[in-house]
Amino acid sequence: MTLNVLFLGDIVGRPGRRAVALFLEQNREDFDLIIANAENASGGLGLTPKNARQLKNLGIDVLTSGNHIWKYREIYDFLDTHTWLIRPLNYPNAPGQGYTIVNTPKSRALIISLQGRTYMEPIDCPFQCVDNLLKNLDFNGPILVDFHAEASSEKRAMGVFLTKRASAVLGTHTHIQTNDAQILDDFTGYIADAGMCGPKDSVLGMNKEIVLERFLFKRPVKFKLADGPLQINGVRVKIDLSSNRCVDISTVQRIFSK
Ligand SMILES: [Fe+2]
Ligand SMILES: [Fe+2]
Repeated sequence: MTLNVLFLGDIVGRPGRRAVALFLEQNREDFDLIIANAENASGGLGLTPKNARQLKNLGIDVLTSGNHIWKYREIYDFLDTHTWLIRPLNYPNAPGQGYTIVNTPKSRALIISLQGRTYMEPIDCPFQCVDNLLKNLDFNGPILVDFHAEASSEKRAMGVFLTKRASAVLGTHTHIQTNDAQILDDFTGYIADAGMCGPKDSVLGMNKEIVLERFLFKRPVKFKLADGPLQINGVRVKIDLSSNRCVDISTVQRIFSK
């Protein structure tokens, strides 16, 4: 039996939530498990409890996150009380959990959220944290990891580190989908970055003129979400449930006119 998983890259603001709603309206039934990174789902930065619930109600089973999850204080308590929303495991003394176990129609699955340290906050070591978790948890079933990191080298290293231990290691945070979806050592599905669900005609979801202004003049300007067509970026992962091995991984892209 095969578990069909959809993993969506960072959902950015209202346009991102809208794109996900349009996509899942048509495709929800194709998947046994849907995971999405929601660290930017509210206003393009952070996540409110209200938007977390909305995304869950669209049919997403687990929301992962990253460095921007701490923006809204209300999410701290929400993280403690809602196991379907997780934050990176390797934050020191943080509210909420860095992993969750979900029941799918076919099996239980373990989802882990991790964050990199290269060009990011020097939080605890993601490699040691996930190693400890997997040693202590003794979980038998598909294991999917969202590695929220900047550097492709660190992401690749995590893929190698978890080869034959995780069913999939899927990168997020850069908002740019990479062209390296593959199966490592005939076991672990891998992509450096799943990409972004949000405004297509933008720089990482933000209004491109404003971002350009920042790069050209180096003066502080307030970011604004971009308008226009919407995009979905993610990966489709198939996992063989007798071995917990990824048997297929492919990228997903969809564009909606608005
Ligand atoms: Fe992000
Ligand atoms: Fe991020």
